[in-house]
Amino acid sequence: MSAKQATRERLARINPFRVMTVMQRAKELEATGRTIVHMEVGEPDFTTAQPIIDAGKAALDAGLTQYTPAPGIPALRDALVEHYWQRHGVKVTRERILITPGASGGLTLLANLLVSPGDGILISDPAYPCVRNFIQLVNAEPQLIAVGLAENFQPTLPLLQQHRRENTAGIWLASPSNPTGTILEQSQLAEACGWAQSEGLHVLVDEIYHGLQYVDRIPSVLELNDGAFVVNSFSKYFGMTGWRLGWIVVPDAYVDQANILAQNLYISASALAQHAALAAFTEESMAIFEQRRQAFRERRDYLSTALSEMGFVLSSNIQGAFYIYADISRFSDDCERFCRDMLELHGVALTPGTDFGDFQSRRYVRFAFTTAMENLQLGVQRLRAAML
Ligand SMILES: Cc1ncc(COP(=O)(O)O)c(C=O)c1O
Repeated sequence: MSAKQATRERLARINPFRVMTVMQRAKELEATGRTIVHMEVGEPDFTTAQPIIDAGKAALDAGLTQYTPAPGIPALRDALVEHYWQRHGVKVTRERILITPGASGGLTLLANLLVSPGDGILISDPAYPCVRNFIQLVNAEPQLIAVGLAENFQPTLPLLQQHRRENTAGIWLASPSNPTGTILEQSQLAEACGWAQSEGLHVLVDEIYHGLQYVDRIPSVLELNDGAFVVNSFSKYFGMTGWRLGWIVVPDAYVDQANILAQNLYISASALAQHAALAAFTEESMAIFEQRRQAFRERRDYLSTALSEMGFVLSSNIQGAFYIYADISRFSDDCERFCRDMLELHGVALTPGTDFGDFQSRRYVRFAFTTAMENLQLGVQRLRAAML
């Protein structure tokens, strides 16, 4: 195969993100005067908390517009050191934390740091679609572990063992998960880490939905294993999607190489966003995040009850994030047609399960409760009318 053809084939494996097409079509319909209920969008509907906006403005006024050190400004890394101590009781040194352009920047960096061409990486199916693509972009193989409601949509130890291949180099987990909102319990994380260690595999956990949880607490993998890699972000709990700011935590042995990759891949994350994010750790901001978490919890309670009553099959315990992954078998065997009809005929935007994997994905759609309660109520009313 020629080099050109190999590149073409590699790129052909990168799937489009279908939710973007749904969003675009929803906007077109809105432009014709229709009201659309947006339950497709994977970002909080709240604007960034005021103290963060004010800190961003102050940083601009102070002329803080230059590159920062590649791993980020020391004050923000120190704020995260404190955050891990306060929330998880773990001591992470500043050196191990690198600020990145969103979790997306962190995942790109870690794919380059940890994965070689031909390696296999165990990930769950369904999962956040870009993860699969980050792995493919470094010429490695996503090794999909089919998980369903029975497994709380999270890989169990026997499943990890069953899917491990000769070329497997690591396991990439996400808790809480997008698209399912389910979490890995401490015992499951501990089992996965123990097994990975005994097999010589690296462990990466995407903790981007931490903070947005409806259970008492969610463990960080760092509480259990100092050698694990963590991806996190200011996008979701901290409500800063458009600022493009995240972070990773790497073990000591990887700090130097991670810095070299950061320098090369993006020089530094946005200076403005980093200075603004310092205000995320004030009491005032934390109180705002807590109020928003309560609002998400109320929406989760309302929407999951309404959907179950209508005949969708879903987890009775959405533990975090702002998604419900619902089985639509009672209504359709084709999620893409279902989503198209719901949008075109009933003005409700949803994401088809096929965005998130292969396993029974035609039977699923993702509902995002990232819109106000009155919109959810309108959405439910429209869905009910559609199902009659
Ligand atoms: C599980 C997961 N990881 C990573 C990302 C990327 O987030 P960002 O780059 O905005 O931090 C997302 C975005 O939806 C996500 O759901």
